[in-house]
Amino acid sequence: MKITISIITIGLVLSSSACHRPQTRAIENRFGKIADKAMVVSAHPLATQAGLDVLKNGGNAIDAAVAVHFALAVVLPAAGNIGGGGFLVYRSHEGSYHTLDYREKAPLSSKRDMYLDEAGEADAGKSRLGHLASGVPGSVDGMVAAHQKFGSKPWGELLRPAILLAENGFPLTRNEAHGLDHAQHTLGKVNTILPKNMMNQEWQEGDSIFYPDLAVTLERIAKEGRSGFYEGETARLIVEEMQRGQGLISFEDLRNYRSVWREPVQFQYKNHKISAMGPPSSGGIALAQLLMMTETFPVRKWGIDHVNTIHILAEAEKLVYADRAKYLGDADFVEVPQQELLHKQYNLKRAENISLKKAAAADEVVAGNLRVEQEETTHFSIVDAMGNAVSSTTTLNGGYGSHVVVAGAGFLLNNEMDDFSAKPGSPNMFGLLGGEANAIVPGKRMLSSMTPTIVEKEGKLFMVVGTPGGSTIITSVFQAIINVIDFDLSMQAAVDFKRFHHQWRPDILYFEEGRINPELETKLKNRGHHLEKRQAIGRVDAILVLPDGRLEGAADPRGDDTALGY
Ligand code: GLY
Repeated sequence: MKITISIITIGLVLSSSACHRPQTRAIENRFGKIADKAMVVSAHPLATQAGLDVLKNGGNAIDAAVAVHFALAVVLPAAGNIGGGGFLVYRSHEGSYHTLDYREKAPLSSKRDMYLDEAGEADAGKSRLGHLASGVPGSVDGMVAAHQKFGSKPWGELLRPAILLAENGFPLTRNEAHGLDHAQHTLGKVNTILPKNMMNQEWQEGDSIFYPDLAVTLERIAKEGRSGFYEGETARLIVEEMQRGQGLISFEDLRNYRSVWREPVQFQYKNHKISAMGPPSSGGIALAQLLMMTETFPVRKWGIDHVNTIHILAEAEKLVYADRAKYLGDADFVEVPQQELLHKQYNLKRAENISLKKAAAADEVVAGNLRVEQEETTHFSIVDAMGNAVSSTTTLNGGYGSHVVVAGAGFLLNNEMDDFSAKPGSPNMFGLLGGEANAIVPGKRMLSSMTPTIVEKEGKLFMVVGTPGGSTIITSVFQAIINVIDFDLSMQAAVDFKRFHHQWRPDILYFEEGRINPELETKLKNRGHHLEKRQAIGRVDAILVLPDGRLEGAADPRGDDTALGY
């Protein structure tokens, strides 16, 4: 049993709960960026800076969210976007909650079996790359809707940083240079008109990149708002792009697209109130189920590295992903048994089936009987000086989405159609299974795992959290939350801490190097787990309100993520 000096000394001053739990190894409880008033954490330093500037100039959290969102669309083309969609959770300083669904939709001419080949098998090539893979984008309407309801600064002013970055260029980070290099082949293959500004034999860290067409598109959106994207010149360019590549998005699809304010999913975990997204994201419901099941086990007493803790959490993850596959979809189109899935008794009963001694084989795990009672995405967290908070996750789905750049408009379109189940039982790019509830229907939104979340403690803002990571989003947010609440880590240490992930199928307990040591690996194997090491799981960007009211911004070191505050 070891406790590092940093836990003792810093923990007593800053930790949200001063009592220390036994740890089985030394954990560096390092703290993130500390600020007195306001904080922005996003996946790119230039986007974080854009948000911080807005806050310092008197903008609120929604103003900053708009600036960060559009800046990410320029500096992080793998995931930041205007051609994709996402979800946003907002908590006003007075404690009211508002959740915005700006998820993409299936085009009106889409068909249930559109991705099946002649043999009736799902053709991943069609749903993941190229024009047919794109849903109708929701990001611009989402930002307009959020700004109309809660923004305080002029709309055009908030897009200015993004326009300047696109027009004047900016240096690539090493990760972005690698990403673009990797995307060259597919960009060359799927685009009928090559995006010349993105094409290069070998991008290097520090190279300048310019997006002149995107700058003009952003100018139109800055001047005209939603119609600068869904109508007029931008709409014409999107539809022409679709026609060149046999895609489906039409003028009618664009004109009709609307983001929707939905009811948040809210629940208690220990003495915390958690607010997250409901359908068409599975994130809020799945997170609630995971935490309800976790609450029935003494994980706090066992400690973060105990074999029982990892075993139980992995078993709970299997059960929850089995429910997700069967029951979840767009509630505007299918009946989602939300109340039943969120029912404490239901989840307690599910948890009772978990054996402490032996991992259940995937075949033995089925969705509950309710009557009994790549992943590239990006997340940002913001708190302003008044205490308003935004947690927003947005995506093109895979890195660089469909890889289709709308010629003349300079932005990438999503490949979000792959998040539908092309055929019940066929896995999507994250290996996730889906059923009837997530079948393709024109106008329907595809099921998501995005989990932007806000946690409250004793009526006050406590944590703003979220991450990219495809199917691993839910488990990464879940582990970041319990790392703070149950294991007393600082926000930064909770984010840094290596993660693991089980999604029921495939029957594999994935873990990051350093999360499960050889001894623990043997113990877990003895309980029947199939383990596999994998690369980074998630990139969590989070903010914690410290007991003295200051903010701790935690940027994930797995990426270019940056926290800045004042
Ligand atoms: N495209 C990843 C998700 O929405 O879950």
